[in-house]
Amino acid sequence: MTVILSIETSCDETACALLQEGRRLLASVVASQMEIHARYGGVFPEVASRQHVLSIYPVVQQTLQQASLTLQEVDAIAVTRGPGLAGSLVVGVNAAKGISLASGKPLVAVNHLEGHIYSAWLHEAAEQNPAPAPQFPLLALLVSGGHTELNLMHDHLQYQRLGATLDDAAGEAFDKVARLLHLPYPGGPAIEQAAAQGNPAAYPFPRAWLEGSYNFSFSGLKTAVLREVRRQEAANQPLPVQDLAASFQAAVVEVLLTKTLQAARTYGVQNIVIGGGVSANRALRAAFLAQKDYTVHIPPLKYCTDNAAMIASAGFYRFQQGHIAELDFDVLPTWTLSS
Ligand SMILES: Nc1ncnc2c1ncn2[C@@H]1O[C@H](COP(=O)(O)OP(=O)(O)OP(=O)(O)O)[C@@H](O)[C@H]1O
Ligand SMILES: [Mg+2]
Repeated sequence: MTVILSIETSCDETACALLQEGRRLLASVVASQMEIHARYGGVFPEVASRQHVLSIYPVVQQTLQQASLTLQEVDAIAVTRGPGLAGSLVVGVNAAKGISLASGKPLVAVNHLEGHIYSAWLHEAAEQNPAPAPQFPLLALLVSGGHTELNLMHDHLQYQRLGATLDDAAGEAFDKVARLLHLPYPGGPAIEQAAAQGNPAAYPFPRAWLEGSYNFSFSGLKTAVLREVRRQEAANQPLPVQDLAASFQAAVVEVLLTKTLQAARTYGVQNIVIGGGVSANRALRAAFLAQKDYTVHIPPLKYCTDNAAMIASAGFYRFQQGHIAELDFDVLPTWTLSS
């Protein structure tokens, strides 16, 4: 039974996890800095880096304690190498190197984006009958704060990018539109909450279909919301935040679902995996689960946003394939999935 200890510090969460056989989660600890950054309306890189330094060792200790394991019982250390904030990544990578050196356990460098995809493999240790693992070939829709892309996977760790966003990431669009609607940071959960009371058909916001490609674009949608907000504000009308949020969310969900299903049909794929912060969105989850033609794997809610459990899962499959990192590797703040 292979046990992976993983570390994730790519942005503003200091996280560590212990995972057995790529799927069974023994422990997961996430120290969030969200409250600190909320006052800036976004992540403040230098503050994030310093907070990681303060949190990393207590978080690793707590994870080992949670699973009642020692480092000797771990088979490999997986760590996020990129993409992310350089000053944040470097804290996790150096901690992982130190732990690897001290324990003699091999290091595995993981791409944060493949982590988001592999969050769909996770299940809690206590679960008696976990859902079957996703089956290849599959489509992986990654919808996070900084990325939106659709990948075809024929096997573990093989990513064929079919399309990506040409401008804003889906999560970024949620965050920007939340700001327009005077909702708090992070915008995704705030929009979702407001949208729950709103009418998704109130405003026919544009859908960028970009026919003939699997690319996405959300900036036109964001501008359409901005225009409507300005119009209402100029008329001194109270902003119909709930209807605007619901109509915006409906447009994002419709495009993500339609394009993914189109690709599934074209490539003859039965399994679809969704990951990244926006996969926590209940309207998106409901839309994907409502269709019955494909088997959809969506991570448990708490593993949609940044965590280390997902890094352990991707790390397990890398470790299995013998991807061991040397101690002198550096962080890759702009690392893509297919490079
Ligand atoms: N319920 C939700 N509905 C919609 N969006 C959400 C929801 N919860 C979180 N998000 C969005 O998810 C994003 C955060 O996700 P994630 O942690 O995956 O992104 P990130 O790590 O900042 O970016 P990346 O992984 O691309 O580097 C934010 O943009 C946030 O608004
Ligand atoms: Mg992320």
